[in-house]
Amino acid sequence: MKLTILGGGGFRVPLVYGALLTDRGEGRVTEVVLHDLDDSRLYAVARVLAEQAVTVPDAPKVTATTDLDEALRGADFIFSAIRVGGLEGRANDERVALAEGVLGQETVGAGGIAYGLRTVPVAVDIAQRVARLAPDAWVINFTNPAGLVTEAMSRHLGDRVIGICDSPVGLGRRIAKVLGANPREAFIDYVGLNHLGWVRGLRVAGRDELPRLLADPDLLGSFEEGKLFGTDWLQSLGAIPNEYLHYYYFNRETVRAYSEVERTRGAFLRDQQAQFYDEMKRPDASALTAWDRTRAEREATYMSENRETAGAGERDADDLSGGYEKVALALMRAIARDERTTLILNVRNQGALSVLDADAVIEVPCLVDANGAHPVAVDPLPDHATGLVCAVKGVEREVLAAAENGSRTTAVKAFALHPLVDSVNVARRLVEGYTEVHPGLAYLK
Ligand code: G6P
Ligand code: MN
Repeated sequence: MKLTILGGGGFRVPLVYGALLTDRGEGRVTEVVLHDLDDSRLYAVARVLAEQAVTVPDAPKVTATTDLDEALRGADFIFSAIRVGGLEGRANDERVALAEGVLGQETVGAGGIAYGLRTVPVAVDIAQRVARLAPDAWVINFTNPAGLVTEAMSRHLGDRVIGICDSPVGLGRRIAKVLGANPREAFIDYVGLNHLGWVRGLRVAGRDELPRLLADPDLLGSFEEGKLFGTDWLQSLGAIPNEYLHYYYFNRETVRAYSEVERTRGAFLRDQQAQFYDEMKRPDASALTAWDRTRAEREATYMSENRETAGAGERDADDLSGGYEKVALALMRAIARDERTTLILNVRNQGALSVLDADAVIEVPCLVDANGAHPVAVDPLPDHATGLVCAVKGVEREVLAAAENGSRTTAVKAFALHPLVDSVNVARRLVEGYTEVHPGLAYLK
């Protein structure tokens, strides 16, 4: 089985390969093709993978190429993990937004829109090529903003593209842990958009255990989301929001905190990763050691630099690996081996959340088997959550329209309609600011 990784020179690719190395089952991946636009990044990551494979018999064979069509041909699965504009672009997303007093996070608010505007055209090009060259392949989209990018690709690939995120399952796991439940046996009643969803229930053996958590301030205060949102607010909501909702519910504080940090998340990661890629230019350096060290250092430094202010995105030390690779592997396994399972994924709605149309990509529990991911019907969200979901989906649709019609006016509309952008004038200046710094937005006329 052949797996192609787009963005194959990315810093997190060794996590994916590491997960593949643990898979000894039948029908596992035997061949990995790394694709990236940047030769030196490909070379650096391929060196890490080669060292990871040394002690593993029958490790998947790895090749690397900068030719996209060649990478796609014959692929059974395609992981799309690209970053248009690189981490420099992410740092610019943050900077331009903060200069306007709004949030520049890579998936939420103005930053997410800017990142979406430059990523969607590239994702659409990839989707069209996949449809032509590897029509039977399954595309697993890691690329943020994951919901929006998945929807853009689904217009060309239908349900053959599935978006993933580790945050819902991570949240479910943390809730199960404080309740003393086995996360494998729990059904997590979670729904929304990517980075904009709520856990409304956690059912074990036919019983919803979440009310027990919501009624107990000590339990609530003992886990990450309880600390982040505060016990009172969680009790008011009657649900546990995805950590990224911190940017909505505490917007003023998060924007202020981000304005005060020495380096934003994007700038921080850019600097840390540059060190690793530089080091890989020395042929004598041990690739795996350098990669491991960079990874450990970057999380440790970031967490001590920004402990008070990081808010969403900050994770406990035991949760650092993120878990993306595990979600991706579980999904790939369920499809390839027809091993039925339930995963929270980004797929076309198809009626699961009745307030949105059938083609809207939502994040929802899905039954997965060889036929793909099928969203399960869920209870409607309360009005306040429906309001946010519909507003943000409306914004995403404007981003998709702007990427298609190349209109600045449509781009302004996308920013202006976002609940976290507080004036049309701010939206106009954001489009000015972003088009100045991002060559990838030159298409907006
Ligand atoms: C979480 C989010 C992802 C994000 C990842 C890494 O897992 O769900 O969407 O890509 O964190 O964030 P970072 O700030 O380290 O790039
Ligand atoms: Mn995510």
